[in-house]
Amino acid sequence: MKKLLVTGGAGFIGSNYVNHVLREREDYFIVNLDKLTYAGNLENLRESEKNERYRFVKGDVCNAELVDYLFQTYEFDYVVHFAAESHVDRSILGAQVFFQSNVIGTNVLLEAARRRGVERFLQVGTDEVYGSLGETGVFTEETPITPNSPYSTSKAAADMAALAYHRTYDLPVVVTRCSNNYGPLQFPEKLIPLMIINALNDKELPVYGDGMNVRDWIYVIDHNEAVDLVLEKGRVGEVYNVGASTEKPNIEIVKLILEKLGKPESLIKYVKDRPGHDRRYAIDSSKLQSELGWKPKHSFEEAMERTVKWYVENKTWWERIVSGDYRNYYEEQYGSR
Ligand code: NAD
Ligand code: DAU
Repeated sequence: MKKLLVTGGAGFIGSNYVNHVLREREDYFIVNLDKLTYAGNLENLRESEKNERYRFVKGDVCNAELVDYLFQTYEFDYVVHFAAESHVDRSILGAQVFFQSNVIGTNVLLEAARRRGVERFLQVGTDEVYGSLGETGVFTEETPITPNSPYSTSKAAADMAALAYHRTYDLPVVVTRCSNNYGPLQFPEKLIPLMIINALNDKELPVYGDGMNVRDWIYVIDHNEAVDLVLEKGRVGEVYNVGASTEKPNIEIVKLILEKLGKPESLIKYVKDRPGHDRRYAIDSSKLQSELGWKPKHSFEEAMERTVKWYVENKTWWERIVSGDYRNYYEEQYGSR
């Protein structure tokens, strides 16, 4: 049995990871350490909460005493570090918590892993550390790190810290850098769930700038399968890009959602652009594909269909979110846009 510390396992990608791994593998025991920020939701883990191979710990990755206690108690083989403040727009409203959780928190985990010893430490990174592309080109693992938002800067610092712990202390670190995820359980501050929910509520769909910024989309389960593979088979000290080569301008995604829900395009409202808005992301994952044999299994068409259906069928999940503090966030972010 491999003992695995998952951080941020109550968030979107982390909870999909925990549920998926407990479903698919019998050789993992998971401790999920999550602070339950606005983005953490134990409802996401209903199917796993009674599993004997699962424990939940509410806590902050910045809490060195707690983190060290967990390493000492469980003697983890693996760490998969998802926990982070993850939303670019929120990092523009207030960056401090991003540097606290994403940089200091990562350092606390790296220190505990160094002192107590682990077989693998996987730092879950983002393609946003590579900055923005023009009309052509793709991000490879060799693309210079030039982040533009407070969020991506904090994630770049976390990646660099993890790689430095490998070089300096020989900690067996691997880093993944993934493109934009979508799927069930994504907090409705992000493009796809926000647009689905607004459309279902016949509310305006706020498209930033000219709607022609491009993102490269991947279904969350494909990302998580890559994480699992890199964790077990990735070469230590290496970075692996993860992406499904599905570039789409935002406006195309928004129109597709409206079409799937039978709602009119008149709901679209072009609003003031995001400051420092990266124009285009496109990720080359050929290293992961050729070295480890990973391939995305879900087509964009099928996985978008599934995602939209999930939000239509899980109204109580998102209604609880959008009727709470989210309303204040929405007003601050979009009220005068
Ligand atoms: P999310 O915001 O949905 O979830 C983040 C989780 O981390 C939440 O459960 C939250 O409670 C927890 N958390 C935050 N700060 C914490 C702290 N200090 N201590 C303990 N727990 C804390 O994020 P997500 O979209 O699931 O992203 C997960 C990871 O994947 C992040 O590291 C993010 O940078 C990375 N990533 C996300 C995407 C994407 O498209 N969403 C793409 C590439 C990489
Ligand atoms: O590329 C990976 C990154 O993808 C992850 O590291 C981040 O955690 C994740 O949040 C995501 O970042 P983005 O900024 O690309 O995602 P977001 O869903 O916020 O925005 C996607 C695009 O849609 C972006 O070009 C901005 C635009 N957008 C977003 C929102 C929320 C809009 O036009 N209107 C909106 O209301």
